[in-house]
Amino acid sequence: MNLLDTMTRLDAEQVLFCHDEIAGLRGIVAIHDTTLGPAMGGLRIQPYESEDAALQDALRLSQAMTMKAAAAGLNLGGGCAVLICETHQGKSEALLRAFGRQVEGLGGRFFIAEDVGTTVDDMEVIAQETRFVVGLNKRRGGSGDPAQKAAMGVFRGIQACLQEVYGDSALRNRRVAIQGVGAVGLELARLLGEEGAALIVADPDSRRIEKLRTHLQAEVVAPDQIFAVECDVFAPCALGGILTPATIDRLKAKIVAGAANNQLENDQAGDRLHARGIIYAPDFVINAGGLINAAEELGGYDETTANHKINNLFHTIQTILRLSRQKGIPTHVAANELALDRIRTIRDIRRNFLPAEH
Ligand code: NAI
Repeated sequence: MNLLDTMTRLDAEQVLFCHDEIAGLRGIVAIHDTTLGPAMGGLRIQPYESEDAALQDALRLSQAMTMKAAAAGLNLGGGCAVLICETHQGKSEALLRAFGRQVEGLGGRFFIAEDVGTTVDDMEVIAQETRFVVGLNKRRGGSGDPAQKAAMGVFRGIQACLQEVYGDSALRNRRVAIQGVGAVGLELARLLGEEGAALIVADPDSRRIEKLRTHLQAEVVAPDQIFAVECDVFAPCALGGILTPATIDRLKAKIVAGAANNQLENDQAGDRLHARGIIYAPDFVINAGGLINAAEELGGYDETTANHKINNLFHTIQTILRLSRQKGIPTHVAANELALDRIRTIRDIRRNFLPAEH
């Protein structure tokens, strides 16, 4: 990959490569855009097949974080960190702390949070070396596990979609099909079940299904059947790239609204949903609850305030659906417009000189 050309194409600000022989650290931090505030993003630790693959992942995710933070109304930019780590090598204290020192060196331009391959406990280890980390344990004044808050935001987004389609946001007697009942999907099922929705779920992991069954009543279908079930809402809460021409044509739901990242195989998939008259809640907007919650740590974590902001995703999704309806554009396009508009506007209003900033 020609790095600077790729950065130009993505309009990315900065890439940091970090290495520490003793800790076995081989990492990349991508800072995409800090117009709105410091970059925030997850730390992924996984065995990438190549350095290029790791770099592409970091750049792509950092750009997605810029859009997510902007659409959520947060004063944050987009960033992402990836550590290339063989599974046998594991996450040592040295690795996490060595990486923490690199984050500290960025002086607050980038805040790290958990992501694939990392946990709240890992964030605690990193916090020994840097102040610029969020998603710490609640007992330390942190915001804790983001999955519960992500589910809360998805729940509010589903309500906004129901309001748009049926003129009523109530869940009672609505049928919701959930693909994947892991950390977010299970919590979403609980919230929906409490409000009287009928649940249909699929998950290849039988332990997850058993766990769900100990708490909730749900119809269980095979993973490849979940797309085609009769329901009002299809909620993808497992994998990315699942909305393809083939799966979209099988959908009976009027609404697609779930937590999974990168649900659309590509932009054409979003166009196809729009053409079929299916309301799609853009993933990076509806699943921002975890980020909104973690961002709250920057000003001293207060759960009531965090919940209030997450509940507000109802209105953000409503705004996007309205934009889509008024302009006749797919919702994923409307969401991108909303996010980019906010970044451009804030960049513009900052053109006057303020002495305190210099
Ligand atoms: P998880 O790993 O806890 O759960 C995913 C579940 O999906 C697992 O139970 C897995 O067995 C199941 N699954 C895998 N393949 C499947 C298939 N073909 N059909 C049905 N189920 C399948 O992950 P988590 O944390 O619940 O995240 C779910 C999605 O939401 C991911 O795409 C993640 O990136 C996204 N997300 C998660 C957030 C979080 O805070 N955990 C925040 C925002 C987005």
